[in-house]
Amino acid sequence: MWYFYAPKTVFGEDALDYLDSMDEKRCFIVTDEGIIKFGMLEILTKKITPLEMDYKVFSGVEPDPREETILEATKICQDYKPDLIIALGGGSSMDVAKAVWVLYERPDLGIDDLYPFIDLKLGKKAKLVAIPTTSGTGAETTWASIITRKTDKGDIKLEQVHKEMIPTVAILDPVFVKSMPKGLTASTGFDALAHLSECIISVWKNDYSEAMALKAFELVQKYLPIAYEDGTNIEAREKMHAAANMAGLAFGNAQVHLGHALGHVLGATFHKPHGFTVGVFLPYVLQYCLHGDEAEETVNILGTFAKRTGVAKWDDANLDAAHKYVAEIKRLQKVVNHPTLSEMITREELDEKIDMMAEWCLESPSAAMSPRSAGSQEFKKIYEYAFENKDIDF
Ligand SMILES: [Fe+2]
Repeated sequence: MWYFYAPKTVFGEDALDYLDSMDEKRCFIVTDEGIIKFGMLEILTKKITPLEMDYKVFSGVEPDPREETILEATKICQDYKPDLIIALGGGSSMDVAKAVWVLYERPDLGIDDLYPFIDLKLGKKAKLVAIPTTSGTGAETTWASIITRKTDKGDIKLEQVHKEMIPTVAILDPVFVKSMPKGLTASTGFDALAHLSECIISVWKNDYSEAMALKAFELVQKYLPIAYEDGTNIEAREKMHAAANMAGLAFGNAQVHLGHALGHVLGATFHKPHGFTVGVFLPYVLQYCLHGDEAEETVNILGTFAKRTGVAKWDDANLDAAHKYVAEIKRLQKVVNHPTLSEMITREELDEKIDMMAEWCLESPSAAMSPRSAGSQEFKKIYEYAFENKDIDF
């Protein structure tokens, strides 16, 4: 027996009107200062004010949100006692809101208690509505909350997961993504591409996720370059919003693996945008998974995926087709000016941190979802190869 997890999803122009149908009257909004600056909070508050909904705003979410931020927001939330929590923002705001939701409902728990094998019984105090303002993280669909923790050896990203942390409702209204700047369009778009590409070969792969990933890839391949070039193209913005959500549904039910393990560690260490930290490794982890003694299944899945998406021809050998998929990822990276690893960090920074980063990768729950396992030596080599822009040959 197996479940497909998804929130109630409202998509399209004026999707925000879904709030009209909600009976809740005290709303705790979790967001960041940028959302306020760019007028997006105002769009939301203009919607809920006539509904006689009282609201309180927590705008202290930062990129790579820290556990202290979650505890601070939880305290305010507990004092305010909302019956609705709205996450308005990118993955960081949604990750914070998910954790706050749990800790508000279950004050007996701490952040380290957010693991899959306990019964949370959420929803007794509040519902969680997620409104993404970027097209990529899929956090509105998933049951993960990525939280940064300070340690003696530097920052790490906790990957806290629980199936009850899926938002009650995801509202995907393109009004919130039409003014994303180029760099954010590219990084979040590549996050979606990493989600759909990693999950189709993960150890939890399944037909439902692959179906979502297929359509999501078709949309990303066509519309990410358009949205990047011309952010005012509403069709491209809508299609990328759908693609990111579908890639979220795909990986939320099949999991990501090595690219996110390597990327989370890179992001925690150097605080770079999440989409670029995972996007930069995507070609290399796919190549790594196409090597090794047990690569046959991965070769067949990725090769067939490449053929179905038109990236390869039907009479290509599956290994050739799979490598054409990797080449297509690299082509798309160039189209959106995705930075290389050597443009993101210096050689000295890599040399100083690589041993520790490889060790942290081993701690990542994502790493266990890879079709080909990796030890610290393999993680180090992938970091090295990515830095040198060298195809994986091991
Ligand atoms: Fe991601």
